[in-house]
Amino acid sequence: MKFFVDTADVDAIRELNELGMVDGVTTNPSLILKSGRDILEVTKEICAIVDGPVSAEVVALEADKMIAEGRHLAGIAPNIAVKLPLTWDGLKACKVLSGEGKMVNVTLCFSVNQALLAAKAGASFISPFIGRLDDINLDGTELIEDIRVVYDNYGFGTEILAASIRSPNHVADVARIGADVMTAPPDVIRKLASHPLTDAGLASFLKDWEKTGQKIL
Ligand code: E4P
Repeated sequence: MKFFVDTADVDAIRELNELGMVDGVTTNPSLILKSGRDILEVTKEICAIVDGPVSAEVVALEADKMIAEGRHLAGIAPNIAVKLPLTWDGLKACKVLSGEGKMVNVTLCFSVNQALLAAKAGASFISPFIGRLDDINLDGTELIEDIRVVYDNYGFGTEILAASIRSPNHVADVARIGADVMTAPPDVIRKLASHPLTDAGLASFLKDWEKTGQKIL
């Protein structure tokens, strides 16, 4: 499963990228706001750090304006994936931009039928938001499971990008199901390394090591 990092925080991206943990980046208007940076400037900087797809989201609502914004964003760097909302106009823009050879990430997906439409419109990525479904007592991981089955039934090449990942359990769940990609905030990716038994085991090994009176270096 590919790891995308869901942030516009350049320092966090750089740190995780140096560890080989970043196959791509996703941003959205809320993450741009949080970064306090100019969208074009920060996106360009991210694209220079990361080799994989960097999603940048349009904000227009009508297809022709989405297409214009998408072309502008795609001009930032060759690894831009234009992020479009899953609306009828978003699907029209997806069809046009993917027809021009641009990567498109269709976002805010909450149903299998929406995912089916995005694949038919030529999306490179579909982003089902699992955390936001869990927030309203629906099953986000079940949606990933259903989209996996439907895409595999018909051999769609659209990659399932599990989004709105809020916890290490979400990551394990979508990996088990076979999501192609997951995107998570940097702190969730860091938490994947934590286990209380690792900490306890390390503490007891170090205690015993001290008793040996030895040094490695
Ligand atoms: C994905 O592309 C979105 O930017 C993100 O995963 C949304 O996550 P949230 O629901 O935690 O805001």
